[in-house]
Amino acid sequence: MDRIRLVGGNPLHGDITISGAKNAALPLMIASLLSDEPLVLTNVPRLADVKQLERILENHGVDIAVHGRRRGESDDGGQRMTFHAADIVDTTAPYDLVSKMRASFWVIGPLLARCHEARVSLPGGCAIGTRPVDLFLFGLKELGAEIDIDDGYVVAKAPKGGLIGARIVFPKVSVGATHTLLMAATLAKGTTVIENAAQEPEITNVAECLVAMGAKISGIGTRTLTIEGVEKLHGANVEVIPDRIETGTFAMAAAMTGGDVFLRGARADHLQSALDILAKTGVDLTTEAGGIRVTRNGNGIQPVDVETHPFPGFPTDLQAQFMALMTMSQGTSHVRETIFENRYMHVAELARFGADIAVDGQLATIRGKSQLKGAQVMATDLRASVSLVIAGLAAKGETIVNRIYHLDRGFERLEDKLSRCGAEIERLAG
Ligand code: UD1
Repeated sequence: MDRIRLVGGNPLHGDITISGAKNAALPLMIASLLSDEPLVLTNVPRLADVKQLERILENHGVDIAVHGRRRGESDDGGQRMTFHAADIVDTTAPYDLVSKMRASFWVIGPLLARCHEARVSLPGGCAIGTRPVDLFLFGLKELGAEIDIDDGYVVAKAPKGGLIGARIVFPKVSVGATHTLLMAATLAKGTTVIENAAQEPEITNVAECLVAMGAKISGIGTRTLTIEGVEKLHGANVEVIPDRIETGTFAMAAAMTGGDVFLRGARADHLQSALDILAKTGVDLTTEAGGIRVTRNGNGIQPVDVETHPFPGFPTDLQAQFMALMTMSQGTSHVRETIFENRYMHVAELARFGADIAVDGQLATIRGKSQLKGAQVMATDLRASVSLVIAGLAAKGETIVNRIYHLDRGFERLEDKLSRCGAEIERLAG
């Protein structure tokens, strides 16, 4: 397995182009199942999770093409890809494909809406706590689906004539369940109202894609989505939004190492809560034309308390990186994880750098300021892995990050982007 070797201590200086958002690209690709016409997506990031979802979609019969660069496009832009589900040949999403990535479970929505049946393996994915699918099944049942669990598979059938619009009140905010029910409702008969919907920018990206495909949706960007079902969706051309988690990660890396980094393409409105918190730590953030500039010159990092919440709150996907930053703050800070019950696996690894973090249930107490020292570390999930990389950038001496396949799932050309800004970082082939 590949590893990353890095030597900490260099401030970051330069330009980093933010890639397309993984968490938007995946559901947008899945939306292609809703129409027999081609969906063209631009700014699709080159990631292992995207490749994995391509395999799943191809198994359902989707033709996928990657196009070349167009005139005027920069060489570090994302991919332009076409997804064409002219004929869905198989409504089963098998275990060996779905178990590698949780988001692939979301195909259940469009398959059920368009083909009136789906057989989808219960998911796997990052080991960040039990991630049940009860909200998905609850929502699909509200639309009239009959659901059985058989041999590790969810077997879902729509009523004769297809799904039927309904009022769905989610007891808890779920990004995946919102994507899935939103997609399913576009082809249901009549009106669906989704209450307590997730409001993440990735949901808005998908909702706008569905509208471009002919869906009738109102309340986009709010907690209540109203969908008037239509007979058929058509093709469209949609751009994947920039990755706000990648943006926040590089901003925190620059905060830790010091320096001056321009995050090209980043959108402040997609991560305002995280930027507000970062500003309180003493980092200078300025929104300029075409991106966000992050600077820290010599001044210390202030301790700031954080709680993770659904959008527009502080994202759980930046919690590990923020904790890495707080190990360098001049005082004690607290992090409370409210979304996932087991998302502190990075704590033991950060301790290997010399960090002082105590966990009590969902609350972590971080005592600074630690002078981090390079170490051998290993990561268990995507965002935890990158927190170890940014800790290594700020640590004294050499760090080796093992099991980096998690990084390749969600960060495009990470070493390349960082080394162009002066970091000493390389990939060691396994
Ligand atoms: C998505 C993101 C992930 C992010 C998470 C929270 C993608 C591909 N992944 O994951 O990066 O960390 O949102 O912002 O976009 N839950 C239930 N029952 C369900 C579904 C979820 O109890 O049926 C719980 C989960 O266990 C968790 C919470 O709801 O505690 C939120 O999870 P959810 O928003 O569904 O996360 P994902 O969509 O899996």
